[in-house]
Amino acid sequence: MTGPPPERHRTRNVSGGTEVTEQLRIGVVGAGYWGPNLARNFRSSPDWDLVAICDLDGERAQRLADQVGGVRVVTDLDELLRSDDIDAIAVATPARTHHGIALAALAAGKHVMVEKPLADTGGRGRAMVETAAASGLVLMADHTYCYTPAVLKIRELIEEGALGDILFIDSVRINLGLIQPDVDVFWDLAPHDLSIIDFILPGGLHPTTVSAHGADPLGAGKACVGYLVLPLANGAIAHVHVNWLSPTKIRQMVIGGTKRTLVWDDLNPQQRLSVYDRGVDLGLQALDGAERKAATVSYRLGDTWSPALPEKEALGSMASEFAASIRESRPPRTDGRAGLRVLSVLEAATRSLGGFGAVTPVEADRVLIGETR
Ligand SMILES: NC(=O)c1ccc[n+]([C@@H]2O[C@H](COP(=O)([O-])OP(=O)(O)OC[C@H]3O[C@@H](n4cnc5c(N)ncnc54)[C@H](O)[C@@H]3O)[C@@H](O)[C@H]2O)c1
Repeated sequence: MTGPPPERHRTRNVSGGTEVTEQLRIGVVGAGYWGPNLARNFRSSPDWDLVAICDLDGERAQRLADQVGGVRVVTDLDELLRSDDIDAIAVATPARTHHGIALAALAAGKHVMVEKPLADTGGRGRAMVETAAASGLVLMADHTYCYTPAVLKIRELIEEGALGDILFIDSVRINLGLIQPDVDVFWDLAPHDLSIIDFILPGGLHPTTVSAHGADPLGAGKACVGYLVLPLANGAIAHVHVNWLSPTKIRQMVIGGTKRTLVWDDLNPQQRLSVYDRGVDLGLQALDGAERKAATVSYRLGDTWSPALPEKEALGSMASEFAASIRESRPPRTDGRAGLRVLSVLEAATRSLGGFGAVTPVEADRVLIGETR
């Protein structure tokens, strides 16, 4: 983004030193399953004035507008985008529509926050990122988990070296899920795991390859059970299991490090994070003074502790970050490029599925080449 933000987006000092910031005005597009969560959070955010709800289904839009205390209802996106009283839109429509809606909004001079996945192909995601950059507008991906207190804490612990070097990440996201009409289970659920890994690893997510195994045992026409394997830096590995067919719900990530191992159980609000001061040390020992060497294994057994976490709704923090990035004319924490890194892996996963799990190169999008965070 270039140039200062428009006057009304800035925080200004008035007499007595009090800081006053005018609210930004937003329309939520998509009033299905997820849109209401966005509308509720933008409605209650001090940074935002929720002005309109837009959905092709007028009754659905009206129901949501009523729930959030009565805002304008629009069934035609172009009409919404022509409005002068809207600075930004938040998009919660199916993935295949993100590209068209985002490009139309950027062309109309509106900032855009779009639900995960950023788009349904890497090429479309790239066009969105390039258009936003050329227009000096914010494009944000709602990688919701990157705004949760748990993930912020995990990132902090990794950054300060509490876990040591990362050895492995194992992520499980399974439950009885809605089979999506336009995407398979990888494109629906794995954006969560991939965006979290992208956010917590100091260098971001840049795997060279991916291998994906999927199954469609009920004949839904797309993978409903999926496994991804990603090599990480320095010989480490990540494994992601996503599944729409599991009767039990599990949201768990294990992050093993050379010093400590962290377990995140998102369904256990009393103890979401546990840090195990335990691990394995390997040493090499010469045998009989000869060249032969053998590994000696010793186990460290220490305490387990659970970091305290504030209870804060992630979407509220996401809404604040969207506003701050517009006011400060800077990329948001989960910008379009973060969305593209996730799409690069998903595209390689789709190719790998077509090759029955073959190890498949992840082609870094040209927008991302040479990028470091
Ligand atoms: N961040 C999260 O945790 C999270 C959770 C669930 C879903 N999502 C994402 O939210 C998005 C929407 O998912 P959903 O489950 O709410 O879908 P949904 O099918 O329940 O709702 C989508 C709504 O969009 C409307 N719509 C479609 N095209 C439109 C258009 N061109 N203009 C206006 N309205 C249009 C539909 O009428 C429908 O009401 C997806 O990208 C999904 O991945 C994110």
